[in-house]
Amino acid sequence: MKQIKADPGQIEQVLMNLAVNARDAMPHGGKLVMETSNVEAGAELARGLDLARGQYAMLAVRDSGHGMDAATLAHVFEPFFTTKPMGKGTGLGLATVYGIVKQSGGSIQVESEVGCGTAFRIYLPAAEGTTGKRREPAAAQRPEGGTETVLIAEDEPDLRDLANIFLSGYGYKVLEAASAEQAIEVADNFKGAIDLLLTDVIMPGMSGRQLAESILQKRPQTKVVYMTGYTDDMVIQHKVLEPGVKLLQKPFGRVDLAMKVRSTLDGK
Ligand SMILES: Nc1ncnc2c1ncn2[C@@H]1O[C@H](COP(=O)(O)OP(=O)(O)OP(=O)(O)O)[C@@H](O)[C@H]1O
Ligand SMILES: [Mg+2]
Repeated sequence: MKQIKADPGQIEQVLMNLAVNARDAMPHGGKLVMETSNVEAGAELARGLDLARGQYAMLAVRDSGHGMDAATLAHVFEPFFTTKPMGKGTGLGLATVYGIVKQSGGSIQVESEVGCGTAFRIYLPAAEGTTGKRREPAAAQRPEGGTETVLIAEDEPDLRDLANIFLSGYGYKVLEAASAEQAIEVADNFKGAIDLLLTDVIMPGMSGRQLAESILQKRPQTKVVYMTGYTDDMVIQHKVLEPGVKLLQKPFGRVDLAMKVRSTLDGK
């Protein structure tokens, strides 16, 4: 397999966004396939992809979901374009994917038909020296874990599970809540220290911000990280949070989460 030069955290984000979309397109179950292959782009393919001729690694993500009509297909990569109900989708998933692919010197294609599923194909330029040994990620990319206690408040069950799995994997003790109200209850009933609150910003009922204030009243030592589907700037612009607050953009990878949690606990 050809190697590529890309940020592992960003590639994780690409896969996560495409997988979440595929899941949403298959409410009654179905098939999700991720596939990689080496592709040589000759004149024709290169022109179609708006890339230079040469070697590429192709990453395909296919689902057997409800697919898209032509009108939807024409807008999928636009920021804030979503067909999901209010409060469900931000329409930033594929815009983020597109941005990452472009930034990595690649190209993305989508094929879809109503009732026949969807396929995304991402082409990323192969790096030189493809036979070399896989390089270990730099130390900065390999976050340290910890044994502190983290309380997760997130209404989306899949994201909550994922954060729990990631953090438990890094050694943390994890408490979970599906709402701000429940998080307060969990905190009230927990005898030990809660070192960090990892909370969604926007939840039905009490907001993440209000939750943090409530927790900090009784537990002033607790550090707070907000998970947000919006980009940092936008959240700040909308005055949900003031600058200097720790934000983790959703969907996040294992490494992003671990680094944010560790650096926040260490007061960095
Ligand atoms: N695999 C897919 N199958 C069917 N439709 C899709 C698929 N992926 C994306 N779409 C369509 O493209 C739209 C935009 O996707 P995008 O990921 O940018 O935003 P979103 O999923 O609506 O919201 P967000 O990802 O920000 O939570 C979706 O609302 C959906 O209509
Ligand atoms: Mg999406």
